[in-house]
Amino acid sequence: MTNDTPPSLSAAAQLLARDKAAVSTAVGRYNEIVFARGEGSYVYDVDGKRYVDLAAGIATNAVGHCHPRVVEAIVDQAKTLLHAGTPVGYTGPYVEMLEALKSTLPAPLSNGKGMLLNSGGEAVEAALKMARTMTKRPMVLAFTGSFHGRPQGALAATGSSSNYRKGMSALLTGVTHVPYPDCGSCAFGHGPRAPENCCGVWKNMIQMTLDKLVHPDDLAAIIVEPIAGEGGYIVPPPDFLKTLREFCDKTGALLISDEVQTGLGRTGNWWGFEGSGAVPDIIAFGKAVGGGLPLGGIMATKPLGERWPSGSHGSTFGGNPVSCRAGVETIRVMRDENLLANATAMGAHLVARLEAERATQPMIGAVRGKGLMVAADLVTPEGKPLDPKAFKKVLADIAANGVILTKCGAASLRFAPALNITRELIDDALGQVFDVLAEQ
Ligand SMILES: Cc1ncc(COP(=O)(O)O)c(C=O)c1O
Repeated sequence: MTNDTPPSLSAAAQLLARDKAAVSTAVGRYNEIVFARGEGSYVYDVDGKRYVDLAAGIATNAVGHCHPRVVEAIVDQAKTLLHAGTPVGYTGPYVEMLEALKSTLPAPLSNGKGMLLNSGGEAVEAALKMARTMTKRPMVLAFTGSFHGRPQGALAATGSSSNYRKGMSALLTGVTHVPYPDCGSCAFGHGPRAPENCCGVWKNMIQMTLDKLVHPDDLAAIIVEPIAGEGGYIVPPPDFLKTLREFCDKTGALLISDEVQTGLGRTGNWWGFEGSGAVPDIIAFGKAVGGGLPLGGIMATKPLGERWPSGSHGSTFGGNPVSCRAGVETIRVMRDENLLANATAMGAHLVARLEAERATQPMIGAVRGKGLMVAADLVTPEGKPLDPKAFKKVLADIAANGVILTKCGAASLRFAPALNITRELIDDALGQVFDVLAEQ
C-alpha cells in the first residue's frame, strides 16, 4: 500500500485520494462519504461526523447497523467455521437459512426448495437459468424500467438504463421487454394517474409480444419486480402480478419475482408479491437476507427445486455459514421486534410527512412507495425531473446536513432506511432534508 497524500488532509480526503488512485472508475458512488462505523440508523465517517442513514446500504440493513444479536451470531460462527465450501459438503447454517426463509413464505413456496448464492445478481442468474432449463424454452419477458443486476444474464433482463447495457447490447439475448406499468409516467401517454386507474395498455403489449414476437411455446419465464426499485420505486397497478400469473398459466411459462429489493420486510410484508393475489414459481432474493453480509439465492416450488439437475448452478461461497447465521438471526430479530408492522407504520408516516411538505415545497413532485420503500421526485419549476448535476448537488448538501440518501428513477430521492427506524429519527432526518431543499 502506498500513501503519499498530504497528511494535512482530513482522513476522508486522504482516503478519497487513495481510492481515486486504486479503484476503477466503473465503481460508482452516490455520496462522497468515507464510512467508519455504524450503529442502528446512524453511521459515522472517518472524521467522526454522524449521519442518519436513510439508505441502509441500499435497502439492505433491515435491522440497522451492527445489531448486537446479528453481530453475536456472526462472531460465534466466525469462531466456529468460516467456510467449508458448499460443493464440498453440508453445513447447518445453510439449511437453517433456507428453512427460515421458507417460514416467511406462503404455499406453495413454503414447501419449496432453494439454493443460496452471494448476491442479488447471482440470484437472478440462477432464477433465469432454472426457468430455461426446466421449461426447455429460451425466451424471457421482462420490463423496461426494471433492474435485475449486472451479471450478463441478469443484465439482459435489466431495462432501467441503457448505461448499464452500453457496449454489451448485442450480447444480451433471450429477453424481450415491454414497459413496466408506471402510471405516474405512462409509456402510453395516459399518465399521470393513480395505479388504481391504470390504462391497462401494458396488457395489450404483452399479448402483442406473444402474438408477434415470442411464440408462447418459447416463453420460459416472466421476470418482474413487484415494485420497480432502481427504476423509481414505481408501484404498479393492483392487478399487475395477477395478470402476469395468468399469462404464465396460459403459456406454461414460469413467474419469477425479483424480490432482491422488495424482499424481507421492506414493503411491510415479508415479500413484495404478497397481497397481489399471485404467488410466483420462483423468487430471487438478496440484499437484506444476509443481515449485512453477502447472501442471495432463489426459492422455487418443490417440483422445480427437486428436478433441477445436479450441478446446474452453484457457487463456492454461496450460502457461506457466517452470512447464513447473520441472515437467520436477522429474521428472528425482525419477528421479535415486530418490524413488518414498524415498516408499514413508519412508511406511512414518511409518505405523510413528504406529502405535507410538498404542499409548500415545489421541488418535491410525486411521492410514492410501500412500507419503507419510498421515493420523492425532485422537479424543476417546470415540473421536469431535476438534471443529474443538480440532483447530485442536492444529495451532497443533504449529506453535508447529516443525512444519507440515494437516488432512484430519473431524479427521485430514495428512502430505504432500516426497518427498525423510529418516528423521531425520521422526523429529525426529514427536517434536515427539508432545510436543504428550502435552500436550493
Ligand atoms: C431488484 C434487484 N434485483 C437485482 C439486484 C442486483 O443485486 P446485487 O447488486 O446484489 O447483485 C438489485 C440491486 O439493486 C435489485 O434492486
